[in-house]
Amino acid sequence: MKEVILGLVGVGRIGVMHANNIAAVNEELNARGISVTLRLTDVAEEHARSVAAGLGAEFLPSVEALIASGIDGLVIATGTATHPELIRAGVDAGIAVFCEKPVAMNVADSLPVLEHVQSKNGVVQIGHQRRFDAGYLEAKRAYQAGELGWIHSLRAVTCDMTPPPVEFLATSGGLFRDCSVHDFDILRWLTGREIVEVYAKGSNNGDPAIGEVGDVDTALAVVTFDDGTVGTVSASRYNGAGHDVRLEIQGSRNSLTVGLDNKTAMESAEAGVEFPNGESHKTFAERFDQAYRSEMAAFVELILGLRENPCTPEDAVAASRVADAAQESLASGVAVKVAFASA
Ligand SMILES: NC(=O)c1ccc[n+]([C@@H]2O[C@H](COP(=O)([O-])OP(=O)(O)OC[C@H]3O[C@@H](n4cnc5c(N)ncnc54)[C@H](O)[C@@H]3O)[C@@H](O)[C@H]2O)c1
Repeated sequence: MKEVILGLVGVGRIGVMHANNIAAVNEELNARGISVTLRLTDVAEEHARSVAAGLGAEFLPSVEALIASGIDGLVIATGTATHPELIRAGVDAGIAVFCEKPVAMNVADSLPVLEHVQSKNGVVQIGHQRRFDAGYLEAKRAYQAGELGWIHSLRAVTCDMTPPPVEFLATSGGLFRDCSVHDFDILRWLTGREIVEVYAKGSNNGDPAIGEVGDVDTALAVVTFDDGTVGTVSASRYNGAGHDVRLEIQGSRNSLTVGLDNKTAMESAEAGVEFPNGESHKTFAERFDQAYRSEMAAFVELILGLRENPCTPEDAVAASRVADAAQESLASGVAVKVAFASA
């Protein structure tokens, strides 16, 4: 049995999910002769101790203690502002790092991290889990196989049912950086093209506290790709019908929608149409359950040298460049060119 010890830092909203997924992935990988052990830490010690106890994982009192305990991979699921120092800590210790998106609060803060990782030949996977989602994978396959022809329009949608806590939003960098960055990443990944310009608008018709911390609850960006193709990326925190993540790709030969199934969070207005008729997803954890588990399994495989890095920090920063441009456009009211400064 090959043994892999993962050290998880941060067991908040997404960290708890990763902790559970690591336990599930361990069971799946056992059949392939791989065993995964989890150790974890969080500054909220009592909560972390109880998460650890529930999973039979070891609790350690700090990141330093976690790293010193001899882990093979560091999983970072703390708030975005802490990512740079924790990525550095993992890379400096010579261990592989999985870090939740984004690399840092913005591109300017990400570039020194990229340089550091490159100078140390660090192995860092960023958590853009949609790259593992079966629907997005099928859309990419179909596009690359020529089944859609050339793409004339792309429409990406990401809607939460309810907003995360305002305290989280205050430090999230804004709706485009926190939420739509997943769409910017997947659009680059799927089309193999760069987004070169963004024009964004937003609105605040929900809790005024969201506006007070400088964010919007709903936004839409018109994006232009380097071959002139146009698309839209929209997001909202108030989608009562359910957690709705879709991508419509319309091409000269055929069209596909990712996320259109019985659980899609909407109803048809047409008489007699009962599709979709299932219970909608309520959270991102539910919607991307399979993808989050697959990305954690991929991290274990990356540590063992069994696969290429599925999402490098360079990939993630490229998506962040688009998110930065969208936030700038939202603030200025004019279209913004995406900066392509070399990292
Ligand atoms: N990939 C996705 O779909 C997705 C979804 C949600 C969040 N995220 C990302 O995950 C990150 C965390 O988001 P969240 O919603 O889980 O946040 P959260 O605030 O719920 O949880 C963060 C946890 O980290 C702990 N923490 C903070 N600093 C720490 C430190 N220095 N050492 C140890 N513990 C520390 C906090 O106590 C908290 O428990 C963010 O960067 C966010 O962008 C990604």
